[in-house]
Amino acid sequence: MRLAGKVAVVTGGGSGIGRGIVLAMAREGADVAIPDIQVLNAEKVAGEVKELGRKVVAMKTDVTSSADVRAMVDRVREALGKIDILVNNAGSASPPGMPFTNNTEEDWDRTFAVNTKSVFLTCKAVAPHFIERKAGRIINIASIAGPIAAVTMPPYSVAKMGVITITRVVAKELAPHGITVNAICPGVLWTDFWQKLATHIAETTPAFKGMTPRQVFDKRVADITPMKREQTPEDIGWAAVFLASDEARNITGQALNVDGGVVMQ
Ligand SMILES: NC(=O)c1ccc[n+]([C@@H]2O[C@H](COP(=O)([O-])OP(=O)(O)OC[C@H]3O[C@@H](n4cnc5c(N)ncnc54)[C@H](O)[C@@H]3O)[C@@H](O)[C@H]2O)c1
Repeated sequence: MRLAGKVAVVTGGGSGIGRGIVLAMAREGADVAIPDIQVLNAEKVAGEVKELGRKVVAMKTDVTSSADVRAMVDRVREALGKIDILVNNAGSASPPGMPFTNNTEEDWDRTFAVNTKSVFLTCKAVAPHFIERKAGRIINIASIAGPIAAVTMPPYSVAKMGVITITRVVAKELAPHGITVNAICPGVLWTDFWQKLATHIAETTPAFKGMTPRQVFDKRVADITPMKREQTPEDIGWAAVFLASDEARNITGQALNVDGGVVMQ
């Protein structure tokens, strides 16, 4: 119960990694808000949170829209009384776009809006509340695609490196107010995200032709992961709980790789 009495907002908490973070935080005692563009998924996860005995609010929010983000923050404060923890998890690599010469201007704009601009918008909306209370935790879900510069996803890799940089910029600015800001870089996880990516790789890369999406994923795990196993949404949930806990009060501006060792290669 390390988060008892806390209120957490997990963007994109309706599926995959976000759901893992929502459930880990709820098990540790937090009430949770789940803003997601796919509201039916958010409502399903909200049902699981209720079964754990926590308060929860699910809502339709597009994190690329400043109006939506401001309305979301107001609604969470009204429904749950405050915000202690902001997890910027919503993101997408669709379309992945390899090679980079095939990328369109729209691919870059869309990828930056959902992965990077969204972090700016939510941090800006929540910061005055955190500063007033001289407390708060921000956890941004970046990706190992940033540090390894994944050729399979050019705009996404650059956008996620941007998430690591905005984490450090905001951490510096908010540190004097007692607020920590950190990133988590997940490695390779079998969520909707990788199912779409694996389908694209099988269709476009000769070395993977004829493979099923799951075979592409397993080969990727075997090829790049020293620990030779995939990561899970629970792994990311535990890391997020730690960064939100009192024990992590002096950790800020960091990017924690939860990747079975990929980035150290
Ligand atoms: N799966 C992986 O291997 C992996 C690795 C590294 C990083 N990540 C990152 O983890 C995060 C979660 O991804 P996932 O693997 O769970 O994929 P996912 O597709 O299952 O989840 C993404 C969630 O974000 C929501 N979302 C998308 N656009 C949104 C928007 N504009 N506004 C609000 N919500 C929006 C989706 O509805 C969905 O619930 C993403 O930021 C992703 O980039 C994933």
